[in-house]
Amino acid sequence: MDRVDFYEKAFLGLSGIMLVLFLGALGYAAFGMGVTLPGRAGTIDPTEARTTPPFDEPGVREIAPGRYEAVMLSQAWAFIPREIRVPAGSEVNFKITSVDVLHGFLVEGTRINSMLIPGEISEFTYTFEEPGEHLIICHEYCGVGHHTMFGRVIVE
Ligand code: CUA
Repeated sequence: MDRVDFYEKAFLGLSGIMLVLFLGALGYAAFGMGVTLPGRAGTIDPTEARTTPPFDEPGVREIAPGRYEAVMLSQAWAFIPREIRVPAGSEVNFKITSVDVLHGFLVEGTRINSMLIPGEISEFTYTFEEPGEHLIICHEYCGVGHHTMFGRVIVE
């Protein structure tokens, strides 16, 4: 039965080495590479968000030919504005925050997928190449009206 002992020790040792390697990789990713929330763009006082630029004027603005800025607020249970309208081929820079509780921001058919944390500004850029409609879904449970919280990106 010596061989069973040997294999057991070998695999225990191997597991230990792998554990240390994986924890090391995690630590390096978190602290060495400065990983933060996706698209974190600053902080804001959520109770003042409605009166703090640029969130005092939510909406879509053309900032350069073919480039748009979409400033949005999320609250229980709506996105403000509900609808983003841009021409096909537009690069859209979303700036969005929550005025109350944790919400989600997922734009169907794109790689935009983030949490909206009160006090944090989220920012992402995406180019909408094809005309069509994308549903914006809140995918973090935010209360009894959670399932009614949605918006639309309309690409014309
Ligand atoms: Cu907002 Cu769920």
